[in-house]
Amino acid sequence: MKRVLSGLQPSGQLHIGNYAGAIRQFVDMQADHEMFVFVASYHALTSTRDPDVLRANTRQVVIDYLAFGLDPSAHPNTHIYLQQDVPQVTELAWLLSCICPKSQMDKATTYKDKIARGLSASVGLYTYPILQAADILSVNPDLVPVGKDQVQHIEITRDLAQKFNHAYGDVFKIPAYKLQDDAEVLPGIDGQKMSKSYGNDIDPFMDEKPLRKRIMKIKTDSTPVEDPKDPDNCTVFQIFRGLAGRNDPRTLDLANRYRASGSQGMGYGNAKQALYELILDHFADARKRRTELINDPGYVDKVLKDGAAAAQEKVADVITRARQAVGL
Ligand code: TYM
Repeated sequence: MKRVLSGLQPSGQLHIGNYAGAIRQFVDMQADHEMFVFVASYHALTSTRDPDVLRANTRQVVIDYLAFGLDPSAHPNTHIYLQQDVPQVTELAWLLSCICPKSQMDKATTYKDKIARGLSASVGLYTYPILQAADILSVNPDLVPVGKDQVQHIEITRDLAQKFNHAYGDVFKIPAYKLQDDAEVLPGIDGQKMSKSYGNDIDPFMDEKPLRKRIMKIKTDSTPVEDPKDPDNCTVFQIFRGLAGRNDPRTLDLANRYRASGSQGMGYGNAKQALYELILDHFADARKRRTELINDPGYVDKVLKDGAAAAQEKVADVITRARQAVGL
C-alpha cells in the first residue's frame, strides 16, 4: 500500500480551492493508501499572530477534513494529526537547512508572491519550504497530493532529499507529487488565485444567504446578456469547472449557455446562480456532517490522539536514522 502525506495551513477558513486542489484527492485516495494528513500549524505562524485564532483555526481544519469525507473510523489507515504533535519535524528542518543552498530559497515563488502581496518577510517565511520538506520526508511517503501552486515546494523537497541522500547515504524516499486530474488553480472572487490570505475565497460552509451574496460578487466583465461569452475567460465558469469537472455534463451545458446569443443569451447572474446551486449540492453532505462534528468534540479528540500516535511512530524512525546519518 502506497503511503501519502499532505497538509493544509490553518490560516483561516478552508475554501473550495483547498477542496478542489487537495482535499478531494485525499478523500479519493483513502480507500487504498496509507494516509498521513496533518494540520500545518507551525507554517501558519508565518502569517497568524493571535494564539486564540490559531488554536481555533487548527481545530476547524480537523473538523473540516472530517466533514469533507476523510474518515479514520472507516479507513484505519487514514491518520489525521497536528504538526505540533510531531515537533521533531523542526529538527529535521534544521538538518535539511544545513544542506540547502541559500539560492534555492531565493527562487521560491510562493515567498516572492507573498512579499509582493505585502506580507512581512520573517526568516520563517523565507525558509518555509524547508519545513515543508521536513513534514514530507519525516514519514517517507511515496506520494504528496497537492494543488498546482505547491509543485515547486515538492520539487524543492525532492531536491533536498536527493542532496541529503547523496551526502549521507539513503535515508529518504524521493516522493512524487500528485495533482488532481485536470488540475487548475481555482480563482477567487476577484479572478486572482483563491487564497485565505487574499480575502477572495469562497467558504463552502457559509450560510446560504451570505454564500449566495458572495458568489454574486464574483468579478465579471460587462458583456451584454444577448452577446455570446467566452466561458474560459470567466471566473464564474472557471470555479464551476474546477468543482464539477471539465467533462461533467453540467459544465458542458453551462459552457453552451455562455456561447449562446440573442434571445437565448445568458447573463452572468444566471451563471452565478448555477454556481451557487452547484456548491450547495456538492457540499450538502459535508455541511451536514460538519454540524454533527462540531457537536462531537470527543470524536475529534480521539481522531487526533490516534493520528498523533501513528505519525509519531513513523517520524521517530526516520528522525533516528537521519540523526545517525549526520553524526549526532
Ligand atoms: P495551503 O494551506 O495554502 O493550501 C492547501 C492545499 O490546497 C491547495 N490550494 C489550491 N488548489 C487549487 N486552487 C487554489 N486556489 C488553491 N489554494 C490552495 C494547495 O495547493 C494545497 O495543496 N505549504 C502548504 C501547506 C503544507 C504542506 C506540507 C502541503 C505544509 N507542509 C507538506 C503538503 C505537504 C500550503 O500552504 O498549503
